[in-house]
Amino acid sequence: MTKLDDIVSLCKRRGFIFQGSDVYGGFAGTWDYGPLGTMLKRNIMNTWWHYWVDAREDMYGVDAAIIMNPKTWVASGHTATFADPLVECLECHGRFRADKIADGITESVTTEEFHKINPKCPTCGKQNWGPIRKFNMMFQTHVGPIVDATSVAYLRPETAQGIFTNYKNVVDTIYPSLPFGIAQQGKAFRNEISPRDFVFRSREFEQMEIEYFVQPDKWQENFDKLLENCHDFFEREMGLPKEKIHDYEVPASDRAHYSDRTIDIEFDFPIGKEELMGIAYRTDFDLQNITRESGKSMEYRDKITGESFTPHVIEPSFGVERLIMAVLSSAYTEEELDGSTRTVLKLPANLAPYKFCVSPLLKNKPELVKKAKEVYEQLRAKYTYVTWDDSGNIGKRYRKQDEIGTPKCVVIDFDTLEDGTVTVRDRDTAEQIRLNPDEL
Ligand code: GAP
Repeated sequence: MTKLDDIVSLCKRRGFIFQGSDVYGGFAGTWDYGPLGTMLKRNIMNTWWHYWVDAREDMYGVDAAIIMNPKTWVASGHTATFADPLVECLECHGRFRADKIADGITESVTTEEFHKINPKCPTCGKQNWGPIRKFNMMFQTHVGPIVDATSVAYLRPETAQGIFTNYKNVVDTIYPSLPFGIAQQGKAFRNEISPRDFVFRSREFEQMEIEYFVQPDKWQENFDKLLENCHDFFEREMGLPKEKIHDYEVPASDRAHYSDRTIDIEFDFPIGKEELMGIAYRTDFDLQNITRESGKSMEYRDKITGESFTPHVIEPSFGVERLIMAVLSSAYTEEELDGSTRTVLKLPANLAPYKFCVSPLLKNKPELVKKAKEVYEQLRAKYTYVTWDDSGNIGKRYRKQDEIGTPKCVVIDFDTLEDGTVTVRDRDTAEQIRLNPDEL
């Protein structure tokens, strides 16, 4: 089983992910993507967008503002209920999310229940707790030059509301037929009490969400279809092993305030089986709330029957950071090769930061370097994501490219000068074949 520490260390060593504000000693719950992490993240997000939006005829994209009218969060219920149970150890004054420090405690735990269970403090080991308090996770800011109660606004805690608030705009400009979906990718912010496990629970993260609008009596069949699409996406596009993906039917007592049914898709992460994403049946909860708060009708008029009604909504909600962790932990492999252990990221080629690495066998032979540059330019013109490496010896170059997941290494040697063929080495099998560069 891959250990989280191995992935964190590879990410740092090879420039995938660094702790946020590293130079100042970090900033809890924030992470920065380095050159390779940025490429991996973009590949994941672009593949998602292509799969869910570009390749379908029933999906439309939006890109809404992060800071929204605060009425949004009153209507959505976040102002009143988007809170986690916070508890303080009265001995060491550590503050924790109550449901995360012992098994069998849920988000709705009361002070009495918590005190009866009386878990040990994860920091000092004592068992002396204060009351449970509800802690709202939305980050507050002030908009405009006056800092008072009237200027309070929030960084969005989910991208979903930017979709709901644009539902009417999309209907009135695009005239889509039901069922249809609106998708959005972007940052979300949550003041998590205990950010933990690398990027798994961060305070600033990226979501990819779809609100899929359906006829009220057709919610079940659409829910099932979207769930199936999620599995297909994970297995086929993200290369996640089927046996590590599990559906968890969330019981009513644990569901978010807006949901009548939720399935969490869980994944066997290095930290254990945890939520990768969720798919929720949000009914007409959000559109009705917007109608009430804005005074504007969110009804949809059926083009054939002329009937007007408020659509119901199925929401597949993905987190990019958790998907990156799932992809990296599935790809991360340590194995014996030629008498030593190598680390290799067996990423699907569509997600790998670089598709090819091109090298001259020796960097002090100008004729090899010249030919290698030609092949490099030829491949860059075709695939863009091609890297050049002439450092160290060829064995070291292979190990470096293995670690960053480059599927093919192309080496220009003396035979290339004779017959034009190059050595192509496969990342996963380490097998080498000779090919003409045009065949790559
Ligand atoms: N709009 C619904 C919604 O936001 P959620 O279950 O709270 O639902 C959806 O979040 C997904 O966003 C999660 O399944 C997870 O992948 C990701 N996510 C949520 N909180 C996160 C956090 N603090 N850090 C990283 N990812 C998070």
